[in-house]
Amino acid sequence: MCGIVGYIGKREAYPIILEGLKRLEYRGYDSAGIALYDDSEIKLSKTKGKVADLEAKAATEISTNGTLGIGHTRWATHGIPNDINSHPHYSNSGNLVIIHNGIIENYESLKKELLKRGYTFKSDTDTEVLINLIEDVKINENVKLGKAVQIALNQVVGAYAIAVFDKKKPNEIVVAKLGSPLAIGIGDEEYFIASDASPFLEYTKKAIYLEDEEMAVISRKKGIKIRKIKNDALVDPYIQELQINLEQIEKGGYEHFMLKEIHEQPNAIKDTYRGRLRAKEGIIKMSGIDDNLERILNANRIIVVACGTSWHAGLVSEYIFENLARIPVEVEYASEFRYRNPVITEKDVVIAISQSGETADTLAAIKLAKSKGAFVFGVCNVVGSTISRETHAGAYTHAGPEIGVASTKAFTTQITVLTLIALKLAKEKGTISNSQFHMQLQELELIPDKVKKALKYDEHIKMVASIYKDAKNCLYLGRGYNFPVALEGALKLKEISYIHAEGYPAAEMKHGPIALIDEQMPVFVIATKKGHYEKVVSNIQEIKSRSGKIIGIVTEGDQDVKYIADHVIEIPETLESLTPLLTTIPLQLLSYHIAVMLGRNVDQPRNLAKSVTVE
Ligand code: M6R
Repeated sequence: MCGIVGYIGKREAYPIILEGLKRLEYRGYDSAGIALYDDSEIKLSKTKGKVADLEAKAATEISTNGTLGIGHTRWATHGIPNDINSHPHYSNSGNLVIIHNGIIENYESLKKELLKRGYTFKSDTDTEVLINLIEDVKINENVKLGKAVQIALNQVVGAYAIAVFDKKKPNEIVVAKLGSPLAIGIGDEEYFIASDASPFLEYTKKAIYLEDEEMAVISRKKGIKIRKIKNDALVDPYIQELQINLEQIEKGGYEHFMLKEIHEQPNAIKDTYRGRLRAKEGIIKMSGIDDNLERILNANRIIVVACGTSWHAGLVSEYIFENLARIPVEVEYASEFRYRNPVITEKDVVIAISQSGETADTLAAIKLAKSKGAFVFGVCNVVGSTISRETHAGAYTHAGPEIGVASTKAFTTQITVLTLIALKLAKEKGTISNSQFHMQLQELELIPDKVKKALKYDEHIKMVASIYKDAKNCLYLGRGYNFPVALEGALKLKEISYIHAEGYPAAEMKHGPIALIDEQMPVFVIATKKGHYEKVVSNIQEIKSRSGKIIGIVTEGDQDVKYIADHVIEIPETLESLTPLLTTIPLQLLSYHIAVMLGRNVDQPRNLAKSVTVE
């Protein structure tokens, strides 16, 4: 978590860093800070709150000149979010300054040592320990900043993406990475540093993504030198040409990124299957699967590891893989899987799902599975992300940048990729008839238009949202393929509106949650025509007889639920296995409108961050 930005070159650093921090605020927004080098001095300003608060404070506190600087937007780990714990942090001499994304796990023992040597600390952060460790090495071993960073990092346990500079050597910035992402944009005699490429897209499309355990000395005069932190070996930089553009990360006329991303789903789903799905010819081409077909087909089982919304997409895939391809599937929270000594063999295929490709628990689960000999396949959105590089093979979702903290298009595109994989395996295994296969392919091609249609009910959904916006608790029910959608609907409401919500399999209700139902309780029930319809209608009757308020997500033209429910929201008809791609749309919109009506910060809900790079 946390976003880091840096600049060294010919331009004024301040506007580049400030704008970059705004783009990285999705990574954390507890506090923000900036340090610029100007006129032999470090000009530092930092504050609790958002980048907008920093902007206001910096304008009155420091001169914003200078062509070298670093900035930080924080998701707090060590120390509460306040001005003092905000980054950047000085070393004791005031010569060195650092920004850091990650956690130094052994910071307490390092701090004890430094205290013994006379160092003092203003903040509660692990980062202030690190900068003083670097300073201590630099002074005692009489080495340059780059070497001091390297020696210090070899004593550190944990994760980091850091940027450091020395006011006595204002022509270079030293950066290093382990576990947290760090990209370096290469301009014309100028360099940009950032947690992802978004802060420098309008300046350059050339970027180097540092690998774990690499560091770089970026010098105004001498360019970039990359080394391995452990053995000092020089690394040949691999410069990538970036494919994303600025429009993709801007709001494009929508009030919030979340709303924009909800509306992008028809195109995002199309982009996901583009070039892979050839419905007319009955072909699915996915190089990550094609190149490893034998290994995957011979798997004893598939284990899905993921967190949050990606875990919900994994749960949907359990139904898809088991029903279509007849492969046993287990879906695991990555955070549980990594610590419970799971039984994994070389015959297992692990599918890791992650929008960001940076989630720490998912990454750790991947490493564990690989160490036991499993074949690991990644489903990621962010191209070049750590998870996409750590897995043996994979498929990108191609959803485009997702900035809103609440995941929307990542979910539907993950399901699309997983559906393509399941259909391909089903075809290869012969567990699906030709006619079923063709029907699935054709119907999948129609999904983008059906999502568009589902989005057209927005005004009606907004009206429903206005009725239930003041609820204190909500239940979400679904069965089969739509049970995970109920979980996802509840998560969406919780995270952006702060209303307590629970998702349940509809039939589980009578084993406990039914006790919660009274006239105050809105119950969102997914009751599509295909998928245990009659059973779900009976569940609805049970809620009705206990005076619960029922909002049914139903297939267009449905009459039965309409008759019983307080409100219904329609979605177009599709195959049962594809319904999650449609039923999720009204639930996303409902959460969005409720959150807006309650005045919540939809794109940056409290306490959250977009990518969780700490465990
Ligand atoms: O980037 P990932 O898909 O690995 O992220 C996993 C979760 O942190 C993420 O889905 C989170 O639950 C979202 N805020 C949900 O909207």
